[in-house]
Amino acid sequence: MIERQRQGDLPRKHHVAFQGTGGRLRHEHCITRQGFDGPYTIAYHERRPHQAGAGTPTRGFPAPEPAPAPGLARRHYRSAGLSAAGFASLSRLPLLFTSQLTVSVARPDQSDTSYFVNGDADDLYFVLEGGGVLRSVLGDLPFAQHDYLFVPKGILHRFELGSVPQHWLVVESKTPLGIPPAFRNPLGQLRMDAPYSHRDFRAPVLASPFDERIRNLVVKRGDAFSESALTHSPFDVVGWDGAVYPFAFAIRDYQPRVGAVHLPPTVHTTFSAPGLLVSSFVPRPLDFAPDAVPCPYPHSSVDLDELIFYASGDFTSRRGIEPGSLSHHPAGIPHGPHPGAYEASLGKTRTEELAVMLDVEGALQRTQFAVSVEDGEYHSSFFEAL
Ligand SMILES: [Fe+2]
Repeated sequence: MIERQRQGDLPRKHHVAFQGTGGRLRHEHCITRQGFDGPYTIAYHERRPHQAGAGTPTRGFPAPEPAPAPGLARRHYRSAGLSAAGFASLSRLPLLFTSQLTVSVARPDQSDTSYFVNGDADDLYFVLEGGGVLRSVLGDLPFAQHDYLFVPKGILHRFELGSVPQHWLVVESKTPLGIPPAFRNPLGQLRMDAPYSHRDFRAPVLASPFDERIRNLVVKRGDAFSESALTHSPFDVVGWDGAVYPFAFAIRDYQPRVGAVHLPPTVHTTFSAPGLLVSSFVPRPLDFAPDAVPCPYPHSSVDLDELIFYASGDFTSRRGIEPGSLSHHPAGIPHGPHPGAYEASLGKTRTEELAVMLDVEGALQRTQFAVSVEDGEYHSSFFEAL
């Protein structure tokens, strides 16, 4: 939800008769959030959008199940080691979760042959590797490596993958995810001092209605998956108007902030949901006071568990990580840089790090998938001989 968009043919007013070819009445489809109080989109279909068979249970991606609770420690998972292949929308493997949030990794190798609706949550993807087209009922949205890709809860879509390997971080948020309210002015525009502008976000582009042959729909609701048959192609929308739609945002379009001395990581905030902050670490100059310590200070953020998904570049405070690494530093114990990193940062003027950070309220649990790719030496790698 970035701003109101309008595409295609629309009637003069909402909820009035809108005829198509031959005088046939088109069908309004209101997609509303927070009941009827939140952002919404109205799409106009050539045919009835609610004509699907009753659902039958089917398999989707695994529900997050807790592995036996380990002791509290800093942890590191190498997601490149996961075999998370399959159809794009259904291939994700959950690694860490709370009751409101699931963090997964997907490495799909097949385009979807069904449409997918996540009826439980918003999905935020970060494309570590890969690209393709998100094809939704509101139009086509190409995406590429290092894009964020946001798919709002309830939007029918499928992925067509490009011919490149895919490796995605997937954040599934049951609380509404979007632009932090502080980045908007009272009219809803992104403020001029926000870390991005309206032009940085890409919306789907509506094509002319076409008869795609896929007739299978998979819906996730209540952490269960249902499959139903469609009587016609859902891509029969002639126009839509509203603020609920998928969008893409290239992480390198994030405008970083730098201070004379080290600023807290919240200055890199990109998206938020109740109980979640998503932050972007992008290449940038470092703190510019002559005696600044550019490396992050050891700290206890006592309310939040901290995850970092590493994309590329040397991360100032960490070693032993690789693209696709996911570190988990839980609240309850302090964390900080690796031995030597603090001292080595003195005098550094620039970082090339590229990473996504998730600050999560509530104690994250981990799944067996995470355990299977854990770097067991990570916690002890922070010790130095005294
Ligand atoms: Fe931290």
